[in-house]
Amino acid sequence: MKYAHIIGWGKYLPQRVLTNQEISKTVDTTHEWIVARTGIHERRIAGTRETTATLAFEAAARALFVAGLHPSDVELIIVATSTPESIFPATACQVQDYLGATRAGAFDLSAACSGFVYALSMASNAITSGAAQNAVVIGAETMSRVLDWQDRGTCILFGDGAGAVVLEGSSIPGGVLASTLRSDGSGGDLLRLPAVYHNPVPILGGEFSQNGHHKNTISMKGRQVFRFATNVISDSVQDVLRDAQLSIDDVDLIIPHQANVRIIETAAKRLKLPVERFFINVARTGNTSAASIPIALCDAVDAGLLHPDDNVVFVGFGGGLSWAASVVKWDVTPPDLSLPDREWGRVRYVLARGRSRLRQLGRHVASFVEGSPTPDARLRERIRPDGRGRTHGRGAKKR
Ligand code: COA
Repeated sequence: MKYAHIIGWGKYLPQRVLTNQEISKTVDTTHEWIVARTGIHERRIAGTRETTATLAFEAAARALFVAGLHPSDVELIIVATSTPESIFPATACQVQDYLGATRAGAFDLSAACSGFVYALSMASNAITSGAAQNAVVIGAETMSRVLDWQDRGTCILFGDGAGAVVLEGSSIPGGVLASTLRSDGSGGDLLRLPAVYHNPVPILGGEFSQNGHHKNTISMKGRQVFRFATNVISDSVQDVLRDAQLSIDDVDLIIPHQANVRIIETAAKRLKLPVERFFINVARTGNTSAASIPIALCDAVDAGLLHPDDNVVFVGFGGGLSWAASVVKWDVTPPDLSLPDREWGRVRYVLARGRSRLRQLGRHVASFVEGSPTPDARLRERIRPDGRGRTHGRGAKKR
């Protein structure tokens, strides 16, 4: 029997801080209103050269460093995100390339703010089933790029960032003890981010033009989302504890999705727990969607709140509607990592970039030298698109 243990963790937040005061200069709101309703004071905004993939890479590289795992030994990379730079290639494949994780499978997972817990569960299952020996699970978002900055109901809430954990299989009991995943698509309209692909098909005429105008920004029915969130946090914590055969008294720390302090306070009341049992860092990050739980985990470790043998519950909720919880036996002591070691760790990623460039160059050269993959010139002649030159088969020229 294998168990999936968390052996590394890392986060990355962009440099640029955006305060409530700055937002209040462009939309009709105030710092006081935002703090009273959400607990958020500021959030980070990705720079022009940063993407979801670069944020994810930074978090993953730090997590691998803590784990002491070489990127070339990584077997699986999952990126939970709602803000990929492209539908494909997957952000996870970009991260695989940046890391030089040459043996890893990689894919993205879309479950909005529940995405990290979903991804953790998938990776844990891959390890316990024997399909993978280890996995890097990342939550990464550039929410600032999908916000309507004129909509005061949403633009105050979100921020950018990434967090990651490394999971490794072991025969020692512990690690991810249980997970519960849930969804309710009937509430899909409460929190939406339409995709970008709504192009018409011109050669088929107007009837195949796509279905109207889609604004590619987040829309939300705040009050209904608030009610949903407070209900599902308590339900899913209870469900996952039942699956792990633990009671609420066995839980040392709950790390919820960081959406809003009021949501967390209300959920704490429902669970009859002191709010101190919940880790909260939303004041400085805003809601970073799938990234919020692993970022909060890193902050909780830095604050010395996790000790070997602690039971920690992750609980996510958001668009879909979707919600999920995992209970994890925390069984590592953070290693003492000195700065020079960290800097040294980056050298391999410079090499990975070089390797990636060489592979690209190799493909260009191969394509130039080998020409078309069609085997011989005669066959090429037969399948010319205008049909001319065909010597037999349908559409062949009568001689
Ligand atoms: N500044 C000032 N006023 C604002 C505002 C802002 N940023 N945003 C909305 N308002 C106004 C509304 O226009 C409304 O005004 P009106 O009464 O004149 O119409 C008033 O405040 C109350 O709006 P309401 O939407 O009922 O506020 P609320 O108390 O529900 O708070 C949220 C709004 C968004 C903070 C709250 O609903 C919430 O936190 N929901 C959950 C959001 C969330 O976490 N989503 C992500 C989940 S993953």
